[in-house]
Amino acid sequence: MAKATLAEAIPIAIVGCGGMGHRRLGGFVELAQADLRPFQLVGACDPDLGNANSLADEAQAKLGGPRPAVAATLEELAANTQVQAIDLTTTPRFHHTIAVEAFERGWHVMSEKPLGLTSRACQTMLQAAARHDCVLSTAENYRRDPINRLGKALIDAGAIGTPRLMIHHSIGGGDGMLISVWRHQKDGAGVLLDVGVHFADIMEFYLGPATTLYAQTRLHEPIRRNRFAGQSVATDGSAGVYERWQTQMPAEFEATADDAAYATIGFASGAVASYVEDHAARGQGGFKRTIFGSEGSLDLPGDRSGRRLVVQREGGDAIDDAALYDLCPDFRLDEATARLFGSDRFFEYTNEFSATDSKLLAVEYCDFAAAIEGESGRPEVDGVQGARSVAMAYAWMESQVAGRAVTIDEVFDDRLNAYQADINEGLGL
Ligand SMILES: NC(=O)c1ccc[n+]([C@@H]2O[C@H](COP(=O)([O-])OP(=O)(O)OC[C@H]3O[C@@H](n4cnc5c(N)ncnc54)[C@H](O)[C@@H]3O)[C@@H](O)[C@H]2O)c1
Repeated sequence: MAKATLAEAIPIAIVGCGGMGHRRLGGFVELAQADLRPFQLVGACDPDLGNANSLADEAQAKLGGPRPAVAATLEELAANTQVQAIDLTTTPRFHHTIAVEAFERGWHVMSEKPLGLTSRACQTMLQAAARHDCVLSTAENYRRDPINRLGKALIDAGAIGTPRLMIHHSIGGGDGMLISVWRHQKDGAGVLLDVGVHFADIMEFYLGPATTLYAQTRLHEPIRRNRFAGQSVATDGSAGVYERWQTQMPAEFEATADDAAYATIGFASGAVASYVEDHAARGQGGFKRTIFGSEGSLDLPGDRSGRRLVVQREGGDAIDDAALYDLCPDFRLDEATARLFGSDRFFEYTNEFSATDSKLLAVEYCDFAAAIEGESGRPEVDGVQGARSVAMAYAWMESQVAGRAVTIDEVFDDRLNAYQADINEGLGL
């Protein structure tokens, strides 16, 4: 279990003080409220000192205690703090260089997804973590949603028999900007990587290792529009965490990264997934995540929605309430999640999105700390699992370029990388 006293807490710094860096403070607030203090936030690092100072101010206001030291570089961070771990929340193109430098300093790293900008960048991170015997964790939050935990327990208990087919379709977006400009640029990651890694992780969470996939990808919307451009930031509390930056971004801009993937994915278990991730669709959008097994189906809601999942067994009624526990009697949430959500099992919740988001970030911190302290052996989503998600997300683009089905292994090992070639070149890799 995570450490309880501030004196014992591991000193950590947030490196990258943009939207996600600021969002992560909510995780620290939730930890404190649940009397869990695995880490003490001692630093805020960003070459944009306005962002770093903003995060340090907000941290002091929300968490009390000393103001985290502000630093522009890891060198400054090392000089001014006793940091032992970093929470890496920069844009993805910097993840690998910062992680490698942190490992060289003997620090542990929890990197935001996508672990690295390319499979090659991920490999440099994995190798450096191993060389310096440091923990590398991937901050992957979706699978930690208690509803996904319940769903996985149901699958493991055989509630729908042997999984055969997963339908994972996420459709909508038109020509709107998804959060920021870099998410639409190939050299910045692209939406299919930024969002795709979440869904790749979810598919492997439920079905085990993916092996092969065939995909078609498209860039449907070459011009994206930012509805916040030039507007003033709402001061009535309704502003999203990203709004202050979005108002400064251009009203429209060229998109260079593919924005839609249509794939068939094979898993080692024999299961198959039909995968659609379309960030450009117009008209009626939709989200569907359903697993069909030899004895029934499991329909899953959107992550962090708190809505009920539904089990439908052959010849039986739909089950979406406490009767679900009869199908997985041993199911209990882990101690940290149970403390943060207030119960060790439930089939729905009604928190505000921001509260749910923060609680899941808090769970990530507990998992990371337990790995550093050697309690758990390794984080649940370690570097390899994070790199597998990056490989799966690139596999859809690599399949399009190669014009054939590809294996996840050949993308993971960086043997198949034609789509990533110019991104790697831009990174100097
Ligand atoms: N898990 C989730 O739900 C979720 C949600 C949003 C973002 N993310 C991830 O978080 C990461 C950051 O995304 P964001 O939306 O906050 O981006 P952002 O553009 O809002 O912020 C990035 C920050 O990194 C800083 N930065 C750049 N180079 C740096 C360096 N060398 N050292 C320190 N800081 C540096 C920038 O100045 C900026 O402040 C991405 O990997 C993204 O995919 C995850």
